[in-house]
Amino acid sequence: MHHLIAPSILSCDFGNLQKDVELINKSSADWFHVDVMDGNFVPNISFGFPVIQAVKKHANKPLDVHLMINDPDRYLEDFKNVGADVLTVHYEACMHLHRTVQKIKSLGMKAGVALNPHTPVDLLFDIIEDVDVVLIMSVNPGFGGQKFIQNAILKVEQTKNLIHRRGSHAIVEVDGGVNLETGKELLNAGADVLVAGSFVFQSSNPIQTILDLKNLNV
Ligand code: DX5
Ligand code: ZN
Repeated sequence: MHHLIAPSILSCDFGNLQKDVELINKSSADWFHVDVMDGNFVPNISFGFPVIQAVKKHANKPLDVHLMINDPDRYLEDFKNVGADVLTVHYEACMHLHRTVQKIKSLGMKAGVALNPHTPVDLLFDIIEDVDVVLIMSVNPGFGGQKFIQNAILKVEQTKNLIHRRGSHAIVEVDGGVNLETGKELLNAGADVLVAGSFVFQSSNPIQTILDLKNLNV
């Protein structure tokens, strides 16, 4: 499959959110990446349901919602109701991950599991067949604009390998510090989805930057 690009709205201008949503609509992006932070699992608070609902109202592509929150089970239905298409929870935040993944799927969403930089890929061995998306964090979650952690390349290779070994249909997404250089390395390692926040929205021409990421050929 051709790789997907998911611009992160965390780096949008929140005073002009509709404008940036429309920019992503008309770009070659595939998904909207929506970062939810609770000030508890991560040391930052981003936004919640009303903002996601506002994005959904204008977005014409799937919402890829990345939950950086503790105990996400409390809110799975609420995220479905505000328009999440892919719902990703953190391995480190779930006591009963299998139950959480099944619940997400039963609500009609794709289920993603994210791994922090220190969390080994092998921990997904017993859940990989049930998962639709594995999200490899290439920065410590919580903030946009951080430096790419190079070990993520190895983790993408390990995840692809695990997926093949276990006959899973999961795809591999990478989040944090993605630009044209790290993006190319990640695609070579087998990544299927690239998230990019600051690289897109701090560029002088975000539509062109999204296209450049989309055109990265392996
Ligand atoms: C980080 C978030 C990312 C963030 C990426 O905790 O999960 O999605 O928006 O931002 P950049 O691309 O600037 O590293
Ligand atoms: Zn994210």
